Amino acid sequence: MPLVSTKEMFKKAYEGGYAIGAFNVNNMEIIQGIVNAAKKCNAPLILQVSAGARKYANQTYLIKLVEAALIDSNLPIALHLDHGDTFELCKDCIDGGFTSVMIDGSHLPFEDNVELTRRVVDYAHSRDPYVTVEAELGRLEGVEDDINVSAEDASYTDPDEVQEFVRRTGCDSLAIAIGTSHGAYKFKPGQKPELRFDILEEVSKRLPGFPIVLHGASSVVPEYVDIINKYGGNMPDAIGVPENMLRKAASMAVCKINIDSDLRLAMTAMIRKNMAEHPENFDPRKYLGPARDAIESIVEHKIINVLGCDGKA
Ligand code: G3H
Ligand code: 13P
Ligand code: ZN
Repeated sequence: MPLVSTKEMFKKAYEGGYAIGAFNVNNMEIIQGIVNAAKKCNAPLILQVSAGARKYANQTYLIKLVEAALIDSNLPIALHLDHGDTFELCKDCIDGGFTSVMIDGSHLPFEDNVELTRRVVDYAHSRDPYVTVEAELGRLEGVEDDINVSAEDASYTDPDEVQEFVRRTGCDSLAIAIGTSHGAYKFKPGQKPELRFDILEEVSKRLPGFPIVLHGASSVVPEYVDIINKYGGNMPDAIGVPENMLRKAASMAVCKINIDSDLRLAMTAMIRKNMAEHPENFDPRKYLGPARDAIESIVEHKIINVLGCDGKA
């Protein structure tokens, strides 16, 4: 099966009340762990590559690994650019074979965001096959690549803007800010985790049937944080979005849930544990293997218990 866009996946997800997992990939073990879980669960997948991942791994290597995943799994897989910030970057990915891109103009004034998004949509939709475009309105707090968005600069999505934005840009899905944030510190110590479901409801009333995307949606699995801290790490107060809230969002208009930090934590926990327990080892397979297994198990858990997309391939 060739790579697919997110069009069909989102239509089915919206109608079925579930979401597709969009997992960030940076190397072979991460891709294999995710794909092994999706195979077990017969789940559709979005593998997403950030600008940082492209810089780290080289886009050609990542594309070839994703092609291997297609051959190995025969699952519907979309290859997506995460947080594209320029037209040129989106074009480069589309030309290279990505089937979906995000143009993130969320830091721009409304009119500039519309203009940039429209330009990417025009290019993506003129391709055969059609490439889907995710856009963003509202701004999440947290760290992506080398951009750090402070609490003061973060802002919730304004439901009054979404209809006009989608009509004028022609984007295929919209990421919104309802209180999630990037990274492993999503709420302050002592703060009760809360998401603005009222905003999600308002947005979906104004955009019936339209797929919504949730970024910053790792739950920062406490078991992995504990292992990291036990074996020399230093991540006090790491906290994520409670999984019951993500499940609720997936049953509503949210069709794509972005998860990166949970994979990083699973991998780091296993590598730290292995290195501490086997100081004599210097074969990378001995710690990357368990790290890959941990990614497989966390992704399987997400697919079944959070996203609800098991059996939907
Ligand atoms: O939202 C950002 C993702 O977690 C990707 O992170 O830009 O460090 O690859 P990165
Ligand atoms: P997390 O940091 O919560 O995993 O979010 C990832 C993300 O939104 C990638 O775009
Ligand atoms: Zn994101």
